[in-house]
Amino acid sequence: MFDLSDLQGNVLRGYKDKPYVRYLILEIADRVVARRWLAAAISGRDHDVPQITSGDWGKAKPRTCFNIGLTYEGLRALGTPGSSLAMFPNEFIEGITARALKLGDVGASAPDTWPSPFNEPKRIHLIATIYAENVAQLDQVQQRALDRNALTLLGMREGNNFDGDFVHFGYRDNIMQPRFEGIHDPERHADGQPLAPLGTVLLGHPTNLEGLQWRVPQPTQLGHNGTFNAFRVLKQDVVGFENYLDQAASDLLTHPKVDEVLPPGGELKVCEVFEIEPPSRHAALREVVAAYLCGRWRDGTPLALSADMPDANVDRAKFDYDESSRCPYGAHIRRCNPRGGHIVQRVANNSRRLVRRGVPYGPAYKRDKSGDAGKTEPERGLLGNFIGASLGAQFEAMSCDWLNLGLQDPRITGSNDPITGTNDPATSWFDLPLKSGGTIRLRGLPEFVSTRGGAYTFLPSLSAIRYLGSLTA
Ligand code: HEM
Repeated sequence: MFDLSDLQGNVLRGYKDKPYVRYLILEIADRVVARRWLAAAISGRDHDVPQITSGDWGKAKPRTCFNIGLTYEGLRALGTPGSSLAMFPNEFIEGITARALKLGDVGASAPDTWPSPFNEPKRIHLIATIYAENVAQLDQVQQRALDRNALTLLGMREGNNFDGDFVHFGYRDNIMQPRFEGIHDPERHADGQPLAPLGTVLLGHPTNLEGLQWRVPQPTQLGHNGTFNAFRVLKQDVVGFENYLDQAASDLLTHPKVDEVLPPGGELKVCEVFEIEPPSRHAALREVVAAYLCGRWRDGTPLALSADMPDANVDRAKFDYDESSRCPYGAHIRRCNPRGGHIVQRVANNSRRLVRRGVPYGPAYKRDKSGDAGKTEPERGLLGNFIGASLGAQFEAMSCDWLNLGLQDPRITGSNDPITGTNDPATSWFDLPLKSGGTIRLRGLPEFVSTRGGAYTFLPSLSAIRYLGSLTA
């Protein structure tokens, strides 16, 4: 088995038991002090500085967990040798704001509209993440992290996990993660998908792209077992989303083929599962639309296994897509992970997998039956981390070719992801597949998710942190 002790704990394992998460967005105040801070953070001795949580925490997971990511500017500020810096991939060197067009960060998502501290990307050097059981612990770790004046706090973002793994828009999340060779037991984590080679997430290991390994920035201690993270502040228009479900359900209600997406009487079961009182066909159709957009009912049931009803008894992880699948080609989870389904870029079926670590921010939303008109809603969204060995070949390719553009299947090419895509109501469309083989086309989808900040970071191994802490030049 692979030794997890050299990895940061948030790469392959995550901390689902810690509901409170805070991101500290930091600038290196003093190179020499910052190096000492890094060395102290992995020393295992100097508890005045929060200790980096490794992937091997033995039997007792720490009560608070602490991890870091460095931007290219951060590596530079630490004095990483130029010959090493030049070996990092181009998209990481350029930084997330330079990649805006590829990522669909235009209009309301454009980097020049991002609030502080993301409006000064060159000053963002290090993003530290604290995971805790309560806010008091977050405060305490934050204070220890900043105590030595190694780092200047530019800003922070905070989120907390909702019960039952739900995220804004009401979906259950955290169901799928890639499983890795040498790490996961295929019997225990059976999802019908091939185990991903370690090189999908860690530098220095084989990938499933034949004969290809990503370049490991040298010295080996720096690059080996490192990975990259796209940190994204994704604002969600929760009211707009619910309003769209209303509108689409009303349109469907009068559609001649509506019984093909909701069998007569099916509204009773759908409303029972989602505890909707009184049950109605319109309320159930809202859930049907939500299910088709994501590829899962909001309780997590995959449409690929149960398209007529949500069903708590079906396996949420193990399914595949074939030509007869009732999961739309354009649904969020089918776009992000086509599994064994036929796609244009056949070689990419399993090579773009991402480790996802996300936490909602903003208060949970409760729909007010009297309508939300005129109310000012607090900002809500997702603090997302999309982790993989190549930002370009995984996160960016997924965002550009699949979520937007829809290049994986000619039947969706030219349409964007219905949940996270850069949609414009004037041109957007989404097809619901029917049992009879036809489709019902929904139109007028607005942009439900807009980007409000982000950074590309390198998640160094513990050896790399030790190396960076020992730099002298
Ligand atoms: C606020 C924005 C987003 C929301 C609300 C959202 C929601 C969801 C939900 C509900 C699931 C299903 C749960 C699961 O399978 O674990 C999911 C899966 C997934 N999402 Fe997103 N997502 C968002 C943004 C993104 C972005 C930007 C990406 C990638 C660039 C992405 C990539 C994925 C992937 C890879 C999966 C797993 C699919 C699978 O393996 O079947 N998501 N997302």
